[in-house]
Amino acid sequence: MVDLTTKYLGLTLAHPLVPSSSPFSKDPSTAKQLEDAGASAIVMHSLFEEKIESEAQQMDRFFYQQALGIGEADSFHPVPEHILSYQEQYLENLQAIKSAVNIPIIASLNGSSLSGWIDYSTHLQQAGADALELNMYYLAANVEEDSLSVENRYIEVLESLKQHVTIPITMKLSPQFSSPVHFIKRLEQAGANGVSIFNRFYQPDIDLETLDVIPKLELSTASEALLRIRWTALLYGRVNLSLAVTGGFHQTSDIAKALLAGADVVHLCSVLLKEGASKLSKMRNELEQWLEEHEYDSVQQLKGSVSQQHAIDPSAYERANYIQVLDSYSSPKSVLR
Ligand SMILES: Cc1cc2nc3c(=O)[nH]c(=O)nc-3n(C[C@H](O)[C@H](O)[C@H](O)COP(=O)(O)O)c2cc1C
Repeated sequence: MVDLTTKYLGLTLAHPLVPSSSPFSKDPSTAKQLEDAGASAIVMHSLFEEKIESEAQQMDRFFYQQALGIGEADSFHPVPEHILSYQEQYLENLQAIKSAVNIPIIASLNGSSLSGWIDYSTHLQQAGADALELNMYYLAANVEEDSLSVENRYIEVLESLKQHVTIPITMKLSPQFSSPVHFIKRLEQAGANGVSIFNRFYQPDIDLETLDVIPKLELSTASEALLRIRWTALLYGRVNLSLAVTGGFHQTSDIAKALLAGADVVHLCSVLLKEGASKLSKMRNELEQWLEEHEYDSVQQLKGSVSQQHAIDPSAYERANYIQVLDSYSSPKSVLR
């Protein structure tokens, strides 16, 4: 029998398939569906500091600034004893999920101020999260800000959090860093326990009729997995961090490739949203079968065996291969004559 267990953020998981942040964790019953399908851990959907702040402002306007100057209408809304805030709902949901399932729960936080990151991560730890994923969704588009300042912001948040929380911390990163391996090494030195590569930026679209710029969420496709696999292969053995891949994992064959490259866990989101939680158990069984057929005893044995450091041709992961790849293209005769 193949040993599918994997170590991730200091936790021993039954296998490497972990649902990433998604609407599945907005409710204990849907989170339970993931556990029933065999999920080895769950990453919660994110707690957004921006939402906490905007809710606080709305409440303030609604209940405390209602003196409209219209006589009787003033103080029209009685101030209720207590309303469950967005943050309290999130924490209650986290606790309810923790009671409903027996697998580790990784909370996810998207902060916007340093004090917010610290404050909310402390609450998430107190509510029972087994680890914390920092969803640092930041588009570096400021002409005044150089890449070192962008990176330093991540380091500053991480170093501060490490002084306040004791649970493992992993950073969910975008692919848009100038020198990802160097930056991730810096994160390790600043105390990160893991990285999750890579967050997907949702691309706004232009409506050609109204000229409006429209936010658009499209689920991923399998073509996105190779980017993650490549960078995992480049990171493996160079950093001493838990490695998770997220983005484009729809096929069991790509899960096997990510593990060969060196991933500790493979996150699933779009595939579960498209095909339902039960897809996870199918993929887990297919992975087990693949390992058996290829005579691996364990996931551990597989991990990193085709990372850059262990690949037969290490240059294949780097630019050295670029010219070869371009030259390998052959178009149909009818196109290039
Ligand atoms: C509907 C939806 C909601 C998501 N919510 C979150 C979230 O709250 N926090 C987060 O870090 N990522 C969130 N994600 C991103 C996913 O966790 C995942 O990283 C991304 O979709 C790439 O993985 P995939 O290709 O398997 O979908 C969300 C994705 C989708 C499609």
